[in-house]
Order: sequence, then structure tokens, then C-alpha cells
Amino acid sequence: MSHTPIQELKRREDLAELGGGAERIQKQHQAGKLTARERVELLLDSGSFVETDKFVTHRCTDFGMENQKFYGDGVVTGYGLINGRKVCVFSQDFTVFGGSLSGAHASKICKLMDLALKTGTPVIGLNDSGGARIQEGVESLGGYAEIFWRNVQASGVIPQISLILGPCAGGAVYSPAITDFIAMVEGSSYMFVTGPDVIKTVTHEEVTKEDLGGADTHAEKSGVCQLVYPDERAMFEGARRLVDFLPLNNLDVAPRRKCSDPSDRLCNRISEVLPDVPSKPYDIRGIIEDVVDDGDFLEVHKAYAANIVVGFARMNGQTVGIVANQPAHLAGCLDIAASTKGARFVRYCDAFNIPIITFVDVPGFLPGTSQEYGGIIRHGAKLLYAYAEATVPKLTIITRKAYGGAYDVMSSKHIRADVNLAYPNAEIAVMGPDGAINILYRKEIADATKAGNLDEARAKLVNHYKETFANPYKAAELGYLDEVLEPKFTRQRLIQALDLLSGKRERGPSRKHGNIPL
Ligand code: HXC
Repeated sequence: MSHTPIQELKRREDLAELGGGAERIQKQHQAGKLTARERVELLLDSGSFVETDKFVTHRCTDFGMENQKFYGDGVVTGYGLINGRKVCVFSQDFTVFGGSLSGAHASKICKLMDLALKTGTPVIGLNDSGGARIQEGVESLGGYAEIFWRNVQASGVIPQISLILGPCAGGAVYSPAITDFIAMVEGSSYMFVTGPDVIKTVTHEEVTKEDLGGADTHAEKSGVCQLVYPDERAMFEGARRLVDFLPLNNLDVAPRRKCSDPSDRLCNRISEVLPDVPSKPYDIRGIIEDVVDDGDFLEVHKAYAANIVVGFARMNGQTVGIVANQPAHLAGCLDIAASTKGARFVRYCDAFNIPIITFVDVPGFLPGTSQEYGGIIRHGAKLLYAYAEATVPKLTIITRKAYGGAYDVMSSKHIRADVNLAYPNAEIAVMGPDGAINILYRKEIADATKAGNLDEARAKLVNHYKETFANPYKAAELGYLDEVLEPKFTRQRLIQALDLLSGKRERGPSRKHGNIPL
């Protein structure tokens, strides 16, 4: 019986939607994983997905591959909506050759990325792939490189988000690595350049795939992944939330949400959060949440370098990037990990027109040989470079300490922050009182030690130093601060400043690109 053209289309569509077949779909479900199409449905607004290249097949004739063809060739591509805003999506289908990347599979992703770049649309990649399709050899490697090249062209032009939903080995990790955000699922997503078996052969090191490249490893140790979710559904919710904060492209502004939180609301909790004793730790998130709209703060990179906090929030409905030293961890010191984490986030915000609010409470850079040998000079310079380079509105509030080079680095007036505020308890100086008096008054301290009245002498010297330097007024006298502000007015003042700065126009000098210390 012959089919009508419409029936023939339907038949082929059904075949394409079956991916690698019912048996493999069942295997995928048994592994606790959703299929490529189920994932797209959950990520996008219901019914909004428009599929492209549904009937593409591979062209390989080696290893009997000419007899094994599946419509779509292991990746579902297309576009749709997230809360009514357009996104392009590709979703690798593990049921077809393990989601491995063939030339045709790569071409589909490349075509989608070209479309996204042309139309100023974010790309979300759902990665579940055994890497390069072994049967295709160099064609597959070439396909990866074509994707990498497009990732770089799209960087800073459209947001690129990678959701890791299965194994990602070899080439499958480098495309996500170039994108802006990587999210992983606990217990089912893995990323490594070489897997446990290869490592055992080469280095005799034994490691499980979870320890090597699981979500926790990349969230806490390597810093490769910025967001972790307990399961796939939570990941799609999370990705939708992230997209809501972002503009569609670098010529767009982030969507402004209706805001019911009054712009002049007093932040009465800040004074409760800030301890009376300058050396006592506190959680900076208590201040951030008191300041931003409805206390809604999307922290990214949470488990990595906890001494700096970064994430997105809104102020009077407008997306802002938050960067904050975290006194509850390593006293908020800047170290290698915190500097690179902060720098990458600042550059993201700058690329996508997102104003940056910086909360400063930093006793300095973390001292020690491990930091120096690890290159804190080079890595710390990244954060300095990123702030100095950023031309988006930059607003800074010193909540307590701003010491040494870290004062300069953390969005100071000198590297062109637009608005610099400090609370009345702020301490701004080259170093803390105890360290400073040891250097300034070496002789007096030696004399006091001999005379047996060291404690009394030190207290006097520390007091004198504090009165002179450990307050915000020296900086205010010099105009390095625009205002010494009562904490309760923080929200109100930041929103006033953001309104003013909405007209900010600033461009760096014309050049090919700067040379950020990598
Ligand atoms: C072709 C592949 C494949 C691949 C998996 N499959 N990986 N086919 N090329 N790279 C196929 C399997 O043959 C199998 O087919 C199906 O996918 C499911 O795979 P399983 O092994 O049964 O699944 P699982 O046990 O869950 O293991 C998943 C896996 C494993 C961990 C991903 O398959 C694996 O180690 N694959 C190879 C990974 C790898 O080394 N890739 C190359 C990396 S090098 P059937 O028909 O049996 O269902 C690389 C270079 C690029 O990517 C560099 C660019 C810079």
C-alpha cells in the first residue's frame, strides 16, 4: 500500500523521533536519564520547539556504517522559547551511537550556531556524548573543531550555556569549556579529557569516574562547572531561571522585570549582619539578599572559591551582576581561585551589558608559598584587569575592610568604578593595624618589650593607627569615595545610581584585543 506524501512525512518523522530505537530509549530511562527530546520539552516553553534538520543522516561508509543510519544522526536541533524569549537548542541523543559526534552531527550543531549568531539568539547545548565518532576518524575531529571555532566567534556576542547530562569525554568537553556557563547533574554527568581507563594505563593512577569528573569534582575542585543540580528536571528549571537574567545578545539589554519591592526600601538587616567586632566573620549573602529585589539572588560558581561570591540579581527589575568578598571563608582574602572566578564573572557581565555591584570586605591577598608558586601575581592580575577593562556601570560598596592591593582591585575609583560608597565602619588602608604598627613602630615596640609594657604600648599605637587610617574618611576626603553611607540606605542609593548610569557611554581604546594575563 503506497503512502500519501503527508503519510510518508509522518512515517519519517516517527522514525526520527524514535532515535536509536525503543530498546535504547528504555536503557536510557533505566539509567535515570531522559531522552534528548524529553529534555528539550522540559527546557522550553511547552509546545514552542521547532526542530531543524530532522532527517539528516551520516555519510560514513566504513565499518559497515552505511547500513546503520538514524534520522537526525544523534542530535536534535532547533529553536524555541524560554518564558517567551527565543533560544536555540541542540540536544545530543545518546541512543544513537552514544551521542557520538559525526561530521553530519557536527554540521547540524554548526548550522544552528550560525543561525543563533545571525539572529542574536542564545545557544543552549544539552551534552550527552561519547565524544568523537570513532568510525569517522578525522571527519569527526574536524567537526569538533568547527564547533569550537564557532564557540569562540559567538563568545561575548550571544550567551552560550552548556548542560552536561551524561558522559562528556575528549572533544566533548572543550566546546562546553568555551561557553559561558556549565551545569552538571549529580551522579549522572561526567567531564574528562581522558577517562579512568586511559589514566590507569598511562599513569597507573586509579580513580573512579565520579572522583575524576563528576559534578562535585568540577564544582568544588576544578571550578570547571558553575551550577550543580540534583537531577535533570531541576537542571532545566535552573537553566530557565538563568536565561531569565540574561540579554539575548550583546546588543540587547537584559529583560526588565516588574518589581514590587520598593526601590527606597530600607535595608535594616545589614546592621544586624555586620558584626561589631572587625575580625568576626559574617556571611556576605545576608547583605546581598537584603539589598536586591525580593532577596532573590542566583549564585553561580557557589562551591568553588567560596571566599568570593558571584551571581545575578535584580535591582528595581534590572539585572545586575554581584561580586562580593566573603568574610565567612578565608576571611574574604583574594587567592588564585577567587581571582579567576571573579575575573571571569566580571568579564561576562561586561560583555553582556550587565551592571556590576561589588561588595568589598577584603583583608588583602592570601599570603603563602602555595599562592606565590601557583602564580597569584598572574591570576590576581586577571581580576584587576577585568575590572579595569569593564565599561558597564560599576558600583562599589565597602562594607568593612578594604586593605592593600585588594582595595585597588575590588572595583576602586582608581580603576574607574562609577560610584564608590563605604559604610561608616569601613577601614581603608595599606594593611591592618596589627601588621602596620609592627613595621611603623619597630623601635617603639622593641623598647616597650624591654620595659615590660608591650600590651599597653601596642594598644596605644593600634588606636592611633585606626584613628588615622582605619576609617573611610581619609578616602572620602580625597574623593576616592563618593559617599559614606548608612547601611540602611544601600538599596535606595544603588538604584538611584543605576538609574543615573543607565545612560553611561564608555568605550576602551581602539585595539585588536588586550593581553589579559592568562
Ligand atoms: C562511536 C560510540 C562512541 C564513540 C559510544 N558509542 N561512544 N560509537 N563512537 N565515541 C556507542 C557504543 O558503541 C554503544 O553502541 C553506544 O554508543 C552506547 O555506548 P556504551 O558503551 O554501551 O554506553 P556506556 O556503557 O554508558 O558508556 C558510555 C561511554 C563509553 C563512557 C561514553 O561508550 C565510552 O567510553 N565511549 C568512548 C569514549 C571515547 O573515548 N570517545 C572518544 C574520545 S576522543 P551500541 O550499538 O552497542 O548501543 C575525542 C577526540 C576529539 O573525542 C578531540 C577533539 C579536540
